Amino acid sequence: MRNAAEIAVALDVDTLPEAFDLVRRIGPSVTWYKVGKQLFTQHGPETVRMLKAEGKKVFLDLKYHDIPNTVGQAVRAAAAIGADLTNVHAFGGPEMLAAAAKAATETGIKAIAVTVLTSMDAAQLQAVGVNATPAEQVLRLARLTKTAGMHGIVCSALEIGLMRGEFGRDFLLVVPGIRPAGSDKGDQKRVMTPRDAVRAGANILVIGRPITGAADPAKAAADILADMRN
Ligand code: C5P
Repeated sequence: MRNAAEIAVALDVDTLPEAFDLVRRIGPSVTWYKVGKQLFTQHGPETVRMLKAEGKKVFLDLKYHDIPNTVGQAVRAAAAIGADLTNVHAFGGPEMLAAAAKAATETGIKAIAVTVLTSMDAAQLQAVGVNATPAEQVLRLARLTKTAGMHGIVCSALEIGLMRGEFGRDFLLVVPGIRPAGSDKGDQKRVMTPRDAVRAGANILVIGRPITGAADPAKAAADILADMRN
């Protein structure tokens, strides 16, 4: 898996023309795009259709969290509109995760789970009744995710080693918070370079602003891919 690590560019923009423009400017070196709540809420399935028409793969990052039946049907809907990968909140529990995994198996979409949002610290967890540290909670939810038969998880780069040790190679690790050496961190606090993330065992690196905010996004992507393969 390590050699096959890929980039998913986060299309965190408001409009389809902006998204189109970015995809065209980035060009053929990037296959995966992440569509999140910002773009999907305004433009919906059209976003996915646009990317598929460009020959791209789509990570639909809508983080479903609901009763098992509803989440299962949402995963089926994500597959029906053409997404290749989608995600749920592991906090929805074992039955919800099993429903998502079943829908994924039956439709062919890949489905992963978010464990603890990186915006949650121990105090935030405690406020919602979770008396575990973020690290303990990440591991607990990742285990539930694996047991339910999901394809993998979203994790921070700093958790890759732990996750690989715990779950082996056959577990998809999708990793945001990636910053090329010397680039602006923005609001990301715990970052890793593309090369180090690949070396640690990431499968898909989710990268937004270092590519989408670059004067030459194609060059930024090419430089990151070169760093990953180095
Ligand atoms: O621009 P940047 O590279 O920071 O974008 C990272 C993307 O990954 C954004 O879409 C962000 O919402 C998402 N993400 C993240 N950290 C998480 C989960 C998702 O940065 N823990």
